[in-house]
Amino acid sequence: MSTLKVPGIAYGGDYNPEQWPEEVWAEDVRLMREAGVTMVSVNIFAWALLEPREGEYDFSRLDRILALLHENGIAADLATPTAAPPAWFFRAHPDALPVDRDGRGLSYGSRQTFCPSSPAYREAALRITGELAARYADHPAVVMWHIHNEYGCHNAECYCDESAAAFRRWLRVKYDDLAALNAAWGTTFWSQWYYDWDEIIPPRATGAVPNPTHQLDWRRFCSDELLSLYKAEREVLREAAPSVPATTNFMVMYNFDALDYWRWAPELDIVSNDHYLQSADPESEIDIALSGDLVRSLAGGRPWLLMEHSTGAVNWQPVNRAKNAGELRRNALAHVARGADGIAYFQWRAAKAGAEQWHSAMLPHAGTDSQIWRDVVALGADLKALAEVRGSTGTAKVAIVWDWNAWWSVELASQPSGEVRFQDLVRSWYEPLWRAGVAVDFVRPDADLSAYRLVLAPSLYLVDDEAAANLTRFAESGGTLAVGFHSGAVDENCHVRLGGYPGAFRKALGVRTDELFPLLPGESVGLSEGGTAGLWSERVHLAGAEAITSYTSGPLTEVPAVTRHPHGTGTTWYVATLPDPTTLAALLDRMCTEAGVEPVRVTPEGVEAALRRGADADYLFLINHGDRDAEIEVSCDGAELLTGNRVEGGTVTVPAGDVVVVREPRG
Ligand code: GLA
Repeated sequence: MSTLKVPGIAYGGDYNPEQWPEEVWAEDVRLMREAGVTMVSVNIFAWALLEPREGEYDFSRLDRILALLHENGIAADLATPTAAPPAWFFRAHPDALPVDRDGRGLSYGSRQTFCPSSPAYREAALRITGELAARYADHPAVVMWHIHNEYGCHNAECYCDESAAAFRRWLRVKYDDLAALNAAWGTTFWSQWYYDWDEIIPPRATGAVPNPTHQLDWRRFCSDELLSLYKAEREVLREAAPSVPATTNFMVMYNFDALDYWRWAPELDIVSNDHYLQSADPESEIDIALSGDLVRSLAGGRPWLLMEHSTGAVNWQPVNRAKNAGELRRNALAHVARGADGIAYFQWRAAKAGAEQWHSAMLPHAGTDSQIWRDVVALGADLKALAEVRGSTGTAKVAIVWDWNAWWSVELASQPSGEVRFQDLVRSWYEPLWRAGVAVDFVRPDADLSAYRLVLAPSLYLVDDEAAANLTRFAESGGTLAVGFHSGAVDENCHVRLGGYPGAFRKALGVRTDELFPLLPGESVGLSEGGTAGLWSERVHLAGAEAITSYTSGPLTEVPAVTRHPHGTGTTWYVATLPDPTTLAALLDRMCTEAGVEPVRVTPEGVEAALRRGADADYLFLINHGDRDAEIEVSCDGAELLTGNRVEGGTVTVPAGDVVVVREPRG
């Protein structure tokens, strides 16, 4: 894992000077310096200007941009412009345009309008990447390659014939022979048996439910196909500039599920992420924390970069909300609290034309006499004051299992309930931990769990034998494992594990379910220890476990809803329903207490606490999302980094809406 050659916490955004006449550029860099900007991402959407005709290049503008940045001490994260091929490319290669699930050919005219399996696209993308690499490998402004932009944002799946052929090649590598594929996909069902590889097509729109394993392999293929494009560009760049780290901006945020980032992350020299708030989410600070914890975990616990977020409203939701007073600062510093060593925005200067003209930016349409600009300048100073936090990491003793295969498969059509949403379930378990100030990492199901005391699997519908054994071994050897309903149900091929649910975890949990009773939207049932439950229920029979709470109403009255079981030298829990938030919080609190997990800090409601561990000090981030000042205990005298004030006497005040970062020296 490389480090970024930018001091302290990097600060900046996407810089698209090609949108503006050159006279504006001088003002841009002057204002960047005023705001404390240290790195900008350039060239992301500049392909049409760099290569006006196939094989004809004009780098003069980019030369001037990079020189200007360098003269002003601003580093460049230089993008390959391959997310937006020019119109001439599609006129020459109409076959490179994507086809959707319904067979509808899509046009160019926006961005990412290419088929990921198109040989013409790959060739053109690698050619422009090669030109850039050759020209700028040793440029003093360039500190990182920004490969492409948000792979899969608009074209994660293409159903054209070229994609079908690529899918078949991928399947041949995976299965080697057709008999293995037929067995894995269960193709005796509905007469889907394949006799020839050429009979296999993408899961295009069809009259009834497509084969689940076919769909799951398709999702895996689509993620891998884009990954191979990323790797191909990275190889070209690496060859020309072996010491310049490469990244691509992930989209670990609500509702983006196209890529299996566990497979992607090891291929990045520095992990970076884009995160946008959902206007409809009244507690988007929880989504920021969850996403940050997941990105840090993808980065193997090492610091990462927030490549994009917004200073205010976005332009792509039904209603796009501006940020409230203080929210810009709280949001940015919350990403730092979760391990970000760089904070950047889309984009530097708000566009006056084009599809994103109503998207906020660091320099808004209103200019510098604006709240956003004042906040942007103040944030630059904050990040400068946090320079020493760079490189520090997390301290979690709780891990939440996150798996894209489990996500994809539990949301396939024809499940017992179409209401089960992987991300919502994970968030419902994450939320009480966030409120309690408990630090969390995310792990793959087959991860080394030895650093943790409590491992939670809120939704792990699909799990292979090895990963299931890994999780249950963790409990056997003294850990506490809690598993959510409908987990362990199927193997890696989406085949149901027979003999009762929750298949792979039955023995370790000491339970056996013979039938599922998902609840209707809005339906809730009572629980014997208080509270209610919704979404799901199942007829759990105890096989060694004790019932912690049981249903008091509905079809399963008196049936256990949550169970606890000693397993080896550890403990397992089965949460066979979705308890209401208060009840779930109480359960998680008990699990933490029994597992010996302490919160980072006990805080009043609305005050978020997160800790980054440095070489000889801890950095305590306290973010007050509420409207009342809060007094928080600190573990020793230290310094408040944002104000430079001493912190003495065992407490620190976090004013309403404000952020405090305390250096707590260790030892
Ligand atoms: C994504 C893209 C940016 C921009 C923003 C707008 O994150 O990477 O180019 O479109 O969305 O929110």
